[in-house]
Amino acid sequence: MQIIKFEETDSTNTYAKQNITLLEDRSVVHALRQTAGRGRLNRSWIDLGGDNLFFSIVLKPSNSFSHVYSNLTQYASVILCRIIEKYGVVAKVKWPNDVMIDGKRKICGILSETVIEGGILKGIILGIGVNLNASQSNVDSIPDRVATALNLEIGKAVDMDSFLNEFIQEFFKGYDEFLSKGFEFIMDEYLSKNCFLEKDLHVQVFNDVKSGYAKGVNTNGELILQTQDNNDLILNIGDIL
Ligand code: BTN
Repeated sequence: MQIIKFEETDSTNTYAKQNITLLEDRSVVHALRQTAGRGRLNRSWIDLGGDNLFFSIVLKPSNSFSHVYSNLTQYASVILCRIIEKYGVVAKVKWPNDVMIDGKRKICGILSETVIEGGILKGIILGIGVNLNASQSNVDSIPDRVATALNLEIGKAVDMDSFLNEFIQEFFKGYDEFLSKGFEFIMDEYLSKNCFLEKDLHVQVFNDVKSGYAKGVNTNGELILQTQDNNDLILNIGDIL
């Protein structure tokens, strides 16, 4: 497996995107610092300093897009929960792929980007940021959301390389089976680790906000919201507010 490590880059996702044709399938781009880390919905991902994880996995499963690939972030979120649990901390998933502690404090973020050129799928980039070692004041300075870091949860420093290696091993252990079975391969575990169902939610979908009762997640990994007029709204993208 190709692992490319940078002291500093603007964003591991941007690097992977720009170099997608050169990068092998299943390669990992890891940076110790990011100067322009990006998050979902055009947000930025703040660099909380060395010893926090910023990496992107480059995947080239085929030349054409399959709907299964849109669930890769949910697969990664389940794997992240498993690794965090090895540190004795319960981690839960907030749809679609945020990893949370106590359902409130965000500890990981995942940004998936697909590169298609001339109708050909060049690759999928799974960018992952994990707050591993930060001060309380650092996480408090993150705008828009309550965040935490693993060292704050367990009361000691976390070894970044061990965490990354454990994640990569666990991710690729089930990756081929995930590709053949899709979301259903992880559905039970995803649901058992959820912190968003059976609640009234407001979900930002681009410039719109959808509201309703979170009834379930279907076999495609989509959120089923029951609206006030008793209709089921199926969301495949959005950000729970
Ligand atoms: C989010 O929750 O909004 C997703 C955040 C994803 C951050 C990671 S850090 C590594 C990779 N490079 C980026 O620029 N973003 C992702």
